Amino acid sequence: MSKIHGIILAAGEGTRMNSDMPKVLHRLSDKTLLDHVLIKARNVCKQVHIVYGYMGEQVMSSVNDSSISWVHQSEQLGTGHAVAQVIPHIDNDSISLIMYGDVPLIKESTLNELIVKAEECGLSLLSIDLKNPTGYGRIIRTEGQIMAIVEQKDANTEQLNISEVNTGFIAIKSKLLKKYLNLIGNDNFQSELYLTDIIALAVDDGRMVGSVISTDRFEVAGVNDKVQLAELERALQKQQALDFMRQGITIKDPSRFDCRGTLSFGKDCTIDFNVLIDGKVELGEKVSISPNCIIKNSTIGNNVEVLPNTVIEDAVIGDEASIGPFARIRPQTEIGNNVKVGNFVEIKKSRIGNNSKASHLSYIGDTTIGEDVNIGAGVITCNYDGTNKHKTDIKDGAFVGSNSQLVAPVVIGKNATIGAGSTITKDAPDGALTLSRTKQSTLKKGFSPSKK
Ligand code: UD1
Ligand code: CA
Repeated sequence: MSKIHGIILAAGEGTRMNSDMPKVLHRLSDKTLLDHVLIKARNVCKQVHIVYGYMGEQVMSSVNDSSISWVHQSEQLGTGHAVAQVIPHIDNDSISLIMYGDVPLIKESTLNELIVKAEECGLSLLSIDLKNPTGYGRIIRTEGQIMAIVEQKDANTEQLNISEVNTGFIAIKSKLLKKYLNLIGNDNFQSELYLTDIIALAVDDGRMVGSVISTDRFEVAGVNDKVQLAELERALQKQQALDFMRQGITIKDPSRFDCRGTLSFGKDCTIDFNVLIDGKVELGEKVSISPNCIIKNSTIGNNVEVLPNTVIEDAVIGDEASIGPFARIRPQTEIGNNVKVGNFVEIKKSRIGNNSKASHLSYIGDTTIGEDVNIGAGVITCNYDGTNKHKTDIKDGAFVGSNSQLVAPVVIGKNATIGAGSTITKDAPDGALTLSRTKQSTLKKGFSPSKK
């Protein structure tokens, strides 16, 4: 097989995005539009060239790949001009595969089909039949053969009625690409050098244009504005959700599920509506995630329930744990087996041992909690003195009474009990009851606010 040169056009501004960012850097799921195309291009091409122009520095720094050949187009004089900039970097004995940086969902299998057809015919073109072809170049055929592409702005009324359109993806033997690019002119409505003119030139040259027709409109959809960006986001999310469901996870409503990253899962997991999976998330078996949860870069064990409105980030959760509702598990937290974290509990950079509980209204930060510990309602670890963070260490079997503050650095001993409402500033010994409250006293009999 010939060497494949990929050419991604990404020099345009994308005015209709109404943004300070170049169009190809807008994000679809967890990647930029350009990255989506690039991932596929890398898999099918030996060398990838990206034509950049508008805000080129930003575009270049968004791609972390030293193997890319960056080609500058100083003025945007049309798609033919853009491709011509790459020509000096391409050897004759190869195939050029032209892609647009704003068409993110193109499939690798389609690119391969185009390449195979180009090996056969010299050049091939990807088209699609659209109910509403407005804006696209129309494919002109005679007796079934592709003869030319006419741009919307240059088309006559009869041509405007053609529903088969150019997607922009073309594979062509590089020698032919060089030959035809030399012959195109800008005698058209936009005074641009149209890449699409190479089709009629190839036909004049006695060639038959290989035709690949897509049946998936999202695969070839370009992003020109935020409405189209949102449409493609939903299409991609739906596709992902369907794939996950086929692999065995239950997703209550695939239209209200988002995964911006990678999700792996064991058997019999269930995800209720409005859940966002972000980054790399691994679920064990029989995990149930309730509505309105966000889970980012975390690993969750078997038989875990994540109750509604819970946010978990950069954490590891053990088996049989129950988290939420309304819990926030922040980075560098490790939660053991059979732990219960209840509502309005925030945990940061802490380890919670097996069978421990923090059921209500707590802040636990920079803390190590042993096994079988009970954290009462309203317990706070005071980990920050205004300058530094300090650690709290709560040993196995301890019971911390409600509304206590543990002023770090401090150690709560094994099987220690802290009386409710205590402010603990010194280490509490093993197996003892420690309290720090003033005694309750009744000062004046017969006192009532109204009789002052
Ligand atoms: C182009 C095709 C049209 C096709 C449509 C599919 C041409 C002449 N027309 O039209 O047949 O139906 O795409 O979406 O090719 N670009 C550059 N440098 C330039 C001009 C464009 O890099 O000088 C890049 C843009 O950033 C963009 C891509 O090429 O990624 C397409 O350019 P655009 O102007 O959007 O072409 P369309 O008018 O959509
Ligand atoms: Ca376009």
